[in-house]
Amino acid sequence: MKVIGRNDPCWCNSGKKYKKCHLQSDAKGETAPSGRAKTVRKPTVLSAAVSPTLVVPKEIGRPEYAMSGKPTDKKISCKKTDSDQIERMRYAGKVARDVLDTVLARVKEGITTDELDKIAHARTLKLGGYPSTLNYMGFPKSICTSVNEVVVHGIPDGRSLVNGDVINCDVTVYVDGMHGDCSETVFVGEVDEASKKLVRVTWECLLKGIDVVKPGVFFNRIGKVIEAHAKDNGFSVVREFTGHGLGQYFHMAPYIAHFYEAGNKQVIEEGMTFTIEPMINAGGAECRFWKDKWTAVTADLSKSAQFEHTLLVTATGVEILTGGREPFFLK
Ligand code: MF3
Ligand code: CO
Ligand code: CO
Repeated sequence: MKVIGRNDPCWCNSGKKYKKCHLQSDAKGETAPSGRAKTVRKPTVLSAAVSPTLVVPKEIGRPEYAMSGKPTDKKISCKKTDSDQIERMRYAGKVARDVLDTVLARVKEGITTDELDKIAHARTLKLGGYPSTLNYMGFPKSICTSVNEVVVHGIPDGRSLVNGDVINCDVTVYVDGMHGDCSETVFVGEVDEASKKLVRVTWECLLKGIDVVKPGVFFNRIGKVIEAHAKDNGFSVVREFTGHGLGQYFHMAPYIAHFYEAGNKQVIEEGMTFTIEPMINAGGAECRFWKDKWTAVTADLSKSAQFEHTLLVTATGVEILTGGREPFFLK
């Protein structure tokens, strides 16, 4: 790693010289977190072989896109009014949490992300659920595994985890007609102090976001407190991906930005079920996509972390549907 020179390749991996690419915008402070020297990094994650698609037995209830790959694009609100729907959301949240815990317990040096996917797939079926990501807009696997500079939507493949990796496992299940969605970032073996801080701060960002949720509050408060905490720690918030309403559908209205949107006056209402899932980068906020069109990485190849919970808005506050214990990294 070294500080970037005018004639070096740009940190954003465009292939252009730095002076022809981001030098000017960096000088104006538009792209770099303030005061940080630009560094050139190499990818720590490369794509590897993706194994054949796993099968789901026909007895298992499927979401609408399971065959076609095309989710219903209705801007339906995530607000729930009847108690049966809410009970089924609670159950989907519990199943998602169980599957996530099962996967996280198996994260260690040497295991491949494909093996983690198979573990999640088997556990989901055992609990009577469908792994929601499977064939969602063509996504080929049952969970997302996002390692180091991968921000989100990493496809499980033949890459083995190595000492020092940080990995986010994101589990979504569809059971009893409802989706539950949660993720955690954990360490593989011994990780450096900078990564530990990134993961801790990202967890705190999720908690701070959850803490402001109650009926009558603007959705934009969530992004406001998350962005403030990330910036206070020298980190940046990813803008391309947001939290989302969920329930009968995987992604429903509204979206939940993890940065401050001053003009967004949407109000949180009792009965809404949605996720908060901040993605926090150690370096700049910008993302790039791999050729697979799914894997999103930080443009500067700095590490990224994420935590996600599914929430239910109650009369006075919030119930975490995918909670139940402290995250693995605090153990
Ligand atoms: N679980 C992710 C979320 O939190 C979505 C993954 S969609 C996939 O919204 F297609 F990439 F799997
Ligand atoms: Co989500
Ligand atoms: Co998720």
